Amino acid sequence: MEHFNPSAMQCNISISILILLAVFSAFSSTNAETHYHQFVMRTPWADGPAYVTQCPIQPGASYTYRFTIENQDGTLWWHAHSQWLRATVYGAFIILPKLGVPYPFPEPKQDIPVLLGEWWNRDIVSVLRQAQFTGAAPNVSDAYTINGQPGDLYKCSSQGTTKFHVKSGETVLLRIINAALNQELFFTVANHMLTVVGNDAAYNKPFTTRVLMLGPGQTTNVLLTANQPSGHYYMTASPYQTAQNAPFDNTTSTAILEYESASCTSKNTAVSKPLMPIVPFYNDTATVTAYTSQIRNLRSKKGKGFPTRIDENLFFTVGLGLVNCIPGPRCQGPNNTRFAASMNNVSFVLPRRTSILQAYYQNIPGIYTTDFPPVPPVKFDYTGNVSRALWQPRFATKLYRLKFGSNVQIVLQDTAIVSTEDHPIHLHGYHFYVMAQGFGNFNPRRDTARFNFVDPPLRNTINVPVGGWSVIRFVADNPGVWLMHCHIDSHLVWGLSMAFLVENGDGELQSIEPPPPDLPPC
Ligand code: C2O
Repeated sequence: MEHFNPSAMQCNISISILILLAVFSAFSSTNAETHYHQFVMRTPWADGPAYVTQCPIQPGASYTYRFTIENQDGTLWWHAHSQWLRATVYGAFIILPKLGVPYPFPEPKQDIPVLLGEWWNRDIVSVLRQAQFTGAAPNVSDAYTINGQPGDLYKCSSQGTTKFHVKSGETVLLRIINAALNQELFFTVANHMLTVVGNDAAYNKPFTTRVLMLGPGQTTNVLLTANQPSGHYYMTASPYQTAQNAPFDNTTSTAILEYESASCTSKNTAVSKPLMPIVPFYNDTATVTAYTSQIRNLRSKKGKGFPTRIDENLFFTVGLGLVNCIPGPRCQGPNNTRFAASMNNVSFVLPRRTSILQAYYQNIPGIYTTDFPPVPPVKFDYTGNVSRALWQPRFATKLYRLKFGSNVQIVLQDTAIVSTEDHPIHLHGYHFYVMAQGFGNFNPRRDTARFNFVDPPLRNTINVPVGGWSVIRFVADNPGVWLMHCHIDSHLVWGLSMAFLVENGDGELQSIEPPPPDLPPC
């Protein structure tokens, strides 16, 4: 298993960075491109998703991603955005505060990236094909990983268990990233409280917790103080699974937090067995809700920062679906169906001839349409029983057009077509404010009263709770084509995705610049 090193950088007002992505021979049978997950970049050509903002980089070819980071600091990451290559092609991307600007908390003694991943004992492309072509649920993974290692609770891997060293008394910053393909994960450290200070590259009002939950795509920064007796403590990543009756990888991966004094004495004495934390039950939604409701923006003031007037009031269902099919190898879903997924009943299809952004920029017709529905075509009880016949998604490449500078609100509503389940929804190109989350069907009259108009957290991946909803707001001030999708990759390949077309504003600085000369050809 590979270990990915973080790239740390100083963010000095705004810096332009240059990254050369070479496609290494290990991926010679497939092609890749890199998505800078959560970067609010003004260069849509550097965003990365295959067939959305660029065509894939062919084996042996290269593409240089050039973009500027504006007003962001915290933990971000990058990953391949083609097929399921991000299973192993990912890494941390850390933006430190501007020179001379302190953290909004005491300077930590160490900065420790903790990347949670997911591992199959098989070629990942074959795992993808099984889900994509048979129409059945995907095979579950064989292990979760912490910095590339599953840890010593799995047979055969005890030698490579990831260890983090701390000195007694010091406070360290853990930058935790859920890079798993298909699984939301709990994270705990035995005997240590975690002080949450940031999420998705935005600071929050600090609070302490024993348990974190991160959906794929999310990052969380926590402070940990080594205030326990010198020794060894397990750190765990374990599944949070909300879909009922769906198979999932119910294993726990571990890393070891080792006090420096404990590692010295262990040369002479046998290493004590690390202490195990209490790991939440896999479907412990109460713990997740209690945790996420504590996340509050550090910076925003009452009524400031987030849009208060709304120009676009959108309502998107998010959920799985089934399409009827003729029994055979490509029809392995339940009762002569294949799995599909959709937003507002549209199952997103990626174009194959060119990217959507190129088609927009060069006026190439026939690649996409801009009639993505602002509300579901049929109103129904979203989280109760509903007949499947009512809800067979349509396959199409539909975009929703936003005027530059418009204030957007989106209600993301889970559905119960196949299963109610938590969906981590990620929006490219933007950070958004999370105004509220809740369970059941969103009811504008009742639930608007619950909006946080004081300190809504700023994120760019938010979980839509199982059988519930999340409301987000942002200002569409970044022109380009920006994908919004479930960051569970099995749902993404089944179509749980859509894209916004944010049109140019007036003036050069608000327009999409021409594509770079080395943009990969289609
Ligand atoms: Cu991190 Cu479109 O993804």
